[in-house]
Amino acid sequence: MKIKFKIRRYNPVDTEASEPYIQAYMCEVPEGMTVLEALLKIADEQDPTLSFRKSCRSAICGSCAVSINGFSKLACNTQVIPEFKKAGEMLIEPLANHTPLKDLIVDFVPFWRKMEKVSPYLTPAEGESAPAVTPEDEERVDRSQRCIMCGCCNAECNSLAIDENFIAPAALAKAWRIVGDVREGNARRRLHRLSEEHGMWDCVRCVHCTQYCPKDVAPLKAIEELRSSAMKEGITDNPGAKHVEAMRDSVERFGRLDEAAMTFKTLGFLRSLGMIPFGLRMEKHGKLPRPHIFAQIEELDEVKKIYEESERRAKEEKRELASRKKGW
Ligand code: SF4
Ligand code: SF4
Ligand code: FES
Repeated sequence: MKIKFKIRRYNPVDTEASEPYIQAYMCEVPEGMTVLEALLKIADEQDPTLSFRKSCRSAICGSCAVSINGFSKLACNTQVIPEFKKAGEMLIEPLANHTPLKDLIVDFVPFWRKMEKVSPYLTPAEGESAPAVTPEDEERVDRSQRCIMCGCCNAECNSLAIDENFIAPAALAKAWRIVGDVREGNARRRLHRLSEEHGMWDCVRCVHCTQYCPKDVAPLKAIEELRSSAMKEGITDNPGAKHVEAMRDSVERFGRLDEAAMTFKTLGFLRSLGMIPFGLRMEKHGKLPRPHIFAQIEELDEVKKIYEESERRAKEEKRELASRKKGW
């Protein structure tokens, strides 16, 4: 089957190509051919100047990630014909949220800097014996350790798209790999750092990172684990954690969310005043939640039971981990 490949080209040192442009190549594609194989064929037979990254060709090294018809994927494990039939075209572009260097090659330095920021190695606590790792402990961080550093999650991240300083899902998945490990001795200090501005609370839970990760790492799940661990440690002096506390209090008291009160509880009175222009715009579009006298739901006792049970379990978990760390 002959397929037209439209590839975004860019070469900052070529004065005639210093702005990105689309170049088309016709390529004969047999059944089962991957996008990476097609790129190699085009480079081999038609245009040796076409630049892209690859290494393992087996979805292991993470280097061949590109945007295929608008979605981040590994070129080496995406077959051309099904993709072409689904999208009706074959458009290959560099990963979004990354700066292109040449053609499909993007700058990964910011990606690695963010990885470095989370210190991706275990740091056992002094004077404490590290507990033996059980299969359940392993299971907790298993998905996070499948990451091949391809950058697909960061490329699809809505928070990173509006804030280049956001730590982003790949580094947060790695952070959970360490914080969630029972042998880690500085989890609390790490959670404090991750709770700072541009950290884990800046994720808007769009789920894209989990949806587009080719290795089922589920970064959003890792972010939820980190947030939950921070809350259990009492690290709540930040807007993200305060927002969660406000939600929890509202549901505990009324069995439902009091959205109008959330802004005040999250930001405090003075900072909430700064939200007035935003509130007026919401009102104009009929989106402003109405502050009303809040009627509690009838089955509030059932909600309270859930809270009591979850608190009991959290305490039990903490006690068990502490006793294992002491080597009892
Ligand atoms: S869920 Fe959060 S971290 Fe994941 S892509 Fe969306 S905003 Fe980014
Ligand atoms: S979490 Fe998934 S998408 Fe993100 S870098 Fe790792 S393997 Fe790639
Ligand atoms: S070439 Fe290694 S993951 Fe695709």
